[in-house]
Order: sequence, then C-alpha cells, then structure tokens
Amino acid sequence: MSQQPTPSSLHGKRALVTGASGGIGGEIARALDRCGVSVCLTGRKTNALELLASGLDNPAMTASVDLQDEKALLALAARVRDELGEIDILVNCAGVLPVKPLVETTTAEFDVCLSVNLRAPFILCREFAPGMQQRRWGRIVNIASSSAYSGFANSSVYCASKHGLLGLSRSLFNEMKNDNVRAFCISPGSVRTEMGRQIKHQDPDTFIDPQEMGRFVVETIAYDGHMIAEEVRLNRMFVQ
Ligand SMILES: NC(=O)c1ccc[n+]([C@@H]2O[C@H](COP(=O)([O-])OP(=O)(O)OC[C@H]3O[C@@H](n4cnc5c(N)ncnc54)[C@H](OP(=O)(O)O)[C@@H]3O)[C@@H](O)[C@H]2O)c1
Repeated sequence: MSQQPTPSSLHGKRALVTGASGGIGGEIARALDRCGVSVCLTGRKTNALELLASGLDNPAMTASVDLQDEKALLALAARVRDELGEIDILVNCAGVLPVKPLVETTTAEFDVCLSVNLRAPFILCREFAPGMQQRRWGRIVNIASSSAYSGFANSSVYCASKHGLLGLSRSLFNEMKNDNVRAFCISPGSVRTEMGRQIKHQDPDTFIDPQEMGRFVVETIAYDGHMIAEEVRLNRMFVQ
C-alpha cells in the first residue's frame, strides 16, 4: 500500500497503545510513529513488542502487561509517568474474542473477556484522562467493533463487552470534550488479523486492511477543528 502524507499536528505527542503486539494495534502504533509521536507499546508478547519497536523511529518504551491484572495496569501507568511523563493519546486496542454458544461459556471466560475488553480501558482512561484534562489536549481511542451495535450468535460475551465499551466511550466523550479531550469509539467490521481468522463464513479477502485502519485512526485523531467526531463505524467496502 502506498504511504500517504501523515498529519504533522501530532508531532512530538506521546501515546500509549494497548494490543500493540496485535494486528490493528501494531498498525496504529506504526501510523502514530510516522507522525512523530513517541509510542509506548503494550501487549503480552515481549518479542512481538520488541520487534515492532525496532522498526519505529520514535519508540518510547515497551511494556509487557496482562490487562486482566489491575495492579499491573496501575504499575504501568506509574512507570509511563516516570519515564515519559503524561501521555497525550491513549489507544485501547487490545481485545479477546471468545466464540462459543452462551450456554457453553464459563464465568471465568466471561471475566477474562470483560476484563480485557472493558475493565482495562476503563482503568487506563481513569489513569490518563486527568493529565489530558489538565493540559487541555488529549485523544482517547477505544477500538470497539461492529459487535458494539449488534448481537451476533456465538459471541454474546464479546458483544456485551463491546456494547459496554461503546457506552463507556459515549459517556467519556461528554465528560471530556469541554476540556478539549476528544474520546472516540472506532468500531470496525472484520479486519485481516489473527483475531479476524476466527471469523467464519466470510471471505477474508474482503476484510479491512489493518494498515488502512491505522492510517484512518491517526487522521481522525489529528483533526483539530471546531467539529468533533464521536463514534465511527468502519465497514468493508466490498462484501461478497
Ligand atoms: N480483527 C477483527 O476482525 C476485529 C473486528 C472488530 C474489532 N476488532 C477489535 O480490534 C482490537 C484489536 O484486534 P486485532 O484484530 O488486532 O486482534 P489480534 O491481532 O488478535 O490482537 C489482539 C491484541 O490484544 C492483546 N491482548 C489480548 N489479551 C490480552 C491480555 N490479557 N493482556 C494484554 N494484552 C492482551 C494481544 O496481546 P498478546 O498477543 O501480546 O497477548 C494482542 O496485542 C480488539 O479490541 C478487537 O476486539 C477486531
């Protein structure tokens, strides 16, 4: 894919991206890096984070963190503040997609999904939003899903978590915008990543390109006028 011009208004900002070891988070991190943003990369797979960092111009740090662990999240926030200072851009991208009928889903599986997909974004927003409000500039991006708007069979817990993330983002949007902190909920349909491989009965060739999505996210958050985007649903252009 050809490289497009990158928004210069983000140059010098500091970002934290969860799920940076994954398909979409990795591309958002790369797109931010191309704009001169220092990016803190988080995920669990240390090797994947280090490999990604080695290809960036402005890697700030990598941190292997299990998002189910609140203490680890609070320690991450403290480490980021120590080493980087307050961040300007928070991207909550990490997620898990359990696929099974509701009656076969255990409470433990419910807890994992809700912890990663909803509780961790809540904790990280609570940690980092006050710094953005104080400095009167900030961007929070929550990556939800088409499952935030529909109830698909065999993914009830995932749909519940993404509906929750959409609700969280809508409230955050209203709580933050008067402080010039823009909270976005960006909800893609099927994307060509490891998680996307779990999606059956669809043609993977039609899936959204994660690199294109990375570019889109960065262009969306770079916008700085009097108009404000609240939530965005991204669909595949061609579906067979
Ligand atoms: N792919 C799609 O079709 C699609 C569609 C709609 C929405 N989304 C959403 O897009 C986001 C990114 O998905 P993706 O397609 O990029 O998936 P992916 O390639 O499978 O990446 C998932 C990411 O989440 C991280 N993660 C999962 N559990 C974690 C945990 N307990 N602690 C820390 N990190 C954890 C993974 O880290 P490690 O691998 O290092 O553990 C990985 O970086 C998710 O929120 C997903 O729900 C995806």
